[in-house]
Amino acid sequence: MSGATAKLLARRQFFRSAWPTARREPYRCFSSSIQNAQQQNTSPPPGQDAPKTTHFGFETIAEALKEQKVGAVFSSVASSYDTMNDLMSLGIHRLWKDHFVRNLNPGSNPLTFPSPMAQGWNILDIAGGTGDIAFRMLDHASNINNDVHTRVTVADINPDMLAEGRKRALETPYARSPRLTFMEANAEDLTTVPDNTVDLYTVAFGIRNFTNKDAALREAFRVLKPGGVFACLEFSKVNNSLFDALYKHWSFGAIPLIGQLVAGDRDSYQYLVESIERFPSQTEFRDMIKDAGFLVPGKGWEDLTGGIAAIHKGVKPIEKRN
Ligand SMILES: C[S@@+](CC[C@H](N)C(=O)[O-])C[C@H]1O[C@@H](n2cnc3c(N)ncnc32)[C@H](O)[C@@H]1O
Repeated sequence: MSGATAKLLARRQFFRSAWPTARREPYRCFSSSIQNAQQQNTSPPPGQDAPKTTHFGFETIAEALKEQKVGAVFSSVASSYDTMNDLMSLGIHRLWKDHFVRNLNPGSNPLTFPSPMAQGWNILDIAGGTGDIAFRMLDHASNINNDVHTRVTVADINPDMLAEGRKRALETPYARSPRLTFMEANAEDLTTVPDNTVDLYTVAFGIRNFTNKDAALREAFRVLKPGGVFACLEFSKVNNSLFDALYKHWSFGAIPLIGQLVAGDRDSYQYLVESIERFPSQTEFRDMIKDAGFLVPGKGWEDLTGGIAAIHKGVKPIEKRN
């Protein structure tokens, strides 16, 4: 554990003990499933191995509980998610997402894409939530590349986030178009998506919430066509220590407070900032992408805003023919 993380943990422990639970409870808007999950006994019956554990923010929990707890967070934040994104990032997430999409250039010449251009790109936006990336992809393909065939499937494990996405889609030209579909799915098990069928797999601010990131990367590799691209936009590690201290002050100080004041939900936003802290560094994540079988162009990632976020890419190799 880094010194900074230890300090943050200590500060959080102090905050929790200094502020009795009874006073915190009125601000708690977690659905009861989170509390149920916390109350479940995770110790193994005698003679059995301890359950595998994982992180939920700064907590260590049984792997089997993570999906349920993450689900409760996103069900709780779904209706305020877009407003909160603007407030928490001071609108900067929009610039990152615009850059992410511009850089991928959906619907452009298929240099690395074996499918004939007449069919457009088949894009799978995993953990697509309220559709921010999907709408941008379709706008870019149509308006910049004059391509009306590229299509996006927004896949997310959480029906409440998908419901917000469907609602937002009604305000776009893609509402009843076959170019936009929504699918409830777990990134770690995409059994309904056949092998070698996707041109571009995107995941924005989603992968840090997955229980088994390696399993999700393996699924990304499986569903992509040879030559297809994996692209991930995620919070990352800030490069400059002074900027990092300022950023942590903002994220741990302001974000849970804004969550409490605006969305009436401090704990979900506390989880979100803790999950950012827990996510692997740029090099560690690049190596995970390589381990899943992808070729990584250049150093493998691009830092955004000093490393607050980063874009990682991997290309599924085209098999050699004899
Ligand atoms: C922070 S939101 C990001 C939403 C959207 N991509 C964006 O950039 O605004 C994270 C999303 O990941 C989804 N998610 C978490 N675990 C998932 C999993 N195992 N499979 C698919 N989606 C998952 C959540 O339901 C949530 O909608």
